[in-house]
Amino acid sequence: MERDTPLLECKGINCGYADMQVLYDVYLTVKEKEAVVIFGSNGSGKSTLLKTLSGLLKPWNGSVRFYDRDITDLAPHERARLGISFASDTRNLFLSMSVEENLILGAYTNRKRLRKNLEMVYHYFPELANMKKKLAGELSGGYQRMLSIGRALMSEPHLLMIDELSLGLSPNMVDRLGEALTNINRENGLAMLVVEQEIYLASNMCKRGYVLDLGKIVAQGEVQKLLQEDTVRRVYMGGSHP
Ligand SMILES: Nc1ncnc2c1ncn2[C@@H]1O[C@H](COP(=O)(O)OP(=O)(O)OP(=O)(O)O)[C@@H](O)[C@H]1O
Ligand SMILES: [Mg+2]
Repeated sequence: MERDTPLLECKGINCGYADMQVLYDVYLTVKEKEAVVIFGSNGSGKSTLLKTLSGLLKPWNGSVRFYDRDITDLAPHERARLGISFASDTRNLFLSMSVEENLILGAYTNRKRLRKNLEMVYHYFPELANMKKKLAGELSGGYQRMLSIGRALMSEPHLLMIDELSLGLSPNMVDRLGEALTNINRENGLAMLVVEQEIYLASNMCKRGYVLDLGKIVAQGEVQKLLQEDTVRRVYMGGSHP
């Protein structure tokens, strides 16, 4: 059962790069055990929002809370220690190290929990168990993405943020990752905030969502209802569909 307690809550976020503003007065919450999606056309500020929530970018103003703590001024590693994990892409992998070594590097925990967490990752991603001795650099892009998510899970996050899960992956791999993440959310109650352009994947994984347009939240609510709204279709489809 989902609880109504906000896990992550951002209020009135304005942010950008140098003097270019990208996000305007963004309010967003993720409740405990909830999976939430952010939709938006290219350049609308989705990645910028995730970067702001993970601490990679400092908001110009506004606040970010996690549980009941103000984390607005915390650095990314401090947020990670509190349980916010950001699987942005595969660039954080060590390509000349093995799959298992990469997973172990993702752990901030003691040895006993490390074993338990490795088993958990291998349970949801048996493919990684079968390739544990392989070098990360030898994996296909899809399996590297799987490894980057497995690695994010090793820190026992309370919130997992993922940017563009499906980007550049084969339809089979997209299904596979979507299925595993949905199971992790349902069985372990891991809250997720995902940016995802694949409507099918996003609506399977997430019940609730937000739509960003030119850096502003223009709609929010149940994903199924959101996708039926004209404004959302126009914004999300970038005006290229009738
Ligand atoms: N490092 C950066 N420096 C300067 N401007 C940036 C930087 N990253 C993004 N931008 C600009 O900020 C705006 C929002 O970009 P952002 O990457 O957040 O959008 P997005 O919604 O994630 O887009 P996409 O769907 O293409 O991933 C764009 O105008 C982009 O050009
Ligand atoms: Mg992006």
